[in-house]
Amino acid sequence: MTFNFDQGIDRRHSDSLKWNKYGDDVLPLWVADTDFRSPDCIIDALTARVQHGVFGYGTTPHDFIAIACQRMQQRYGWQVQPEWLVVLPGVVSGLNLAVRAFTDAQQSTIAPTPIYPPFRLAAKLAGRPQRNAQMRLEQGRWLMDLDALAPQLDGSEKLLMLCHPHNPCGTVWRRDELEAQLAFARRHNLIVCSDEIHSDLILEPDLKHIPFASLSEDAEQRSITLLSPSKTFNIAGLGASLAIIPNAELRERFNQTRKGIVPEVDILALVAACAAWRDGQPWLDAQLDYLRGNRDWLVNAVNQLPGLQMQSPEATYLGWINARKLSVASPALFFEKHGLGFSPGRDFGDDAFIRINFGCTRATLEDALQRMQRALATLA
Ligand SMILES: Cc1ncc(COP(=O)(O)O)c(C=O)c1O
Repeated sequence: MTFNFDQGIDRRHSDSLKWNKYGDDVLPLWVADTDFRSPDCIIDALTARVQHGVFGYGTTPHDFIAIACQRMQQRYGWQVQPEWLVVLPGVVSGLNLAVRAFTDAQQSTIAPTPIYPPFRLAAKLAGRPQRNAQMRLEQGRWLMDLDALAPQLDGSEKLLMLCHPHNPCGTVWRRDELEAQLAFARRHNLIVCSDEIHSDLILEPDLKHIPFASLSEDAEQRSITLLSPSKTFNIAGLGASLAIIPNAELRERFNQTRKGIVPEVDILALVAACAAWRDGQPWLDAQLDYLRGNRDWLVNAVNQLPGLQMQSPEATYLGWINARKLSVASPALFFEKHGLGFSPGRDFGDDAFIRINFGCTRATLEDALQRMQRALATLA
């Protein structure tokens, strides 16, 4: 089966958050959805459900639970019990619920920095103190040394928040790195919330995602894993997501915190999620090839531009570009004036960076590069 990821779909003046943020003169390369049409299996399943014509309150389809458990078993050899699953309308609500359910006002969360902004925001909104674990570049990979944080810890820490693979740095945590994170959690008696929303988007053919919770029974019992097909299959506007919480007491606390506040999941979202996870693999394989091509092309091109530097992300369709050498106050604002809508590094914790979304057609990426060249020429 062939899929055409070069097909340009006009999203301007649609309901797209990404394409509505700027005027027509700016190419949006920010929020993490792709410009690709979702696979036909999803569109067909949604069409059939819409044709039914009745949209009353729903229940979680048994299929969804079975497909999710089967997926964990087949992909990772991780045996997940159906009762461990909590269905959610989005992963960010899972991050916020985890902070509120598992910490009190005096208890701190720990998260990497830079990081996808809702990690920090979840702690801030709940009024929880937060410790930042600095990501550092080591031999071409962005890594996090949790033990370096030890002198700052005062025993109030309760929740370690992992982003696996990491947004914005693209790190796929290896087994020994996950083991070190688990050992740290054990030493400091931490619950671990592992956001694995990007886990299907591993671009390095030799790497495999390892769910944090699958490391051991201890990892399982102290963790909550957040998952969704939304990034993988470009259905983030629908939002079906999952928390996997093996520990019954943690699950109860999470469910209590959610009651009456976080709604049930949209019935169409669950139809899309079932179709994606059941039938979407051939499309996903093709998408990974396309994204890998985009990544390699982009990394090579960006590293030839004056003043910019980026590592090759091991996963995701997001690139973390170091613009420190440009003599501009805000790299994101500078590029925006030249027709490029990147995510500002400031939102993730480092002003000197911008984040690019390369989940777009190659033609869009080429257009972006030409705009970057023109922008940088004005600084010469
Ligand atoms: C690490 C991570 N978690 C969660 C989300 C968003 O999740 P949702 O749209 O399901 O709330 C994103 C989107 O970019 C993300 O990168």
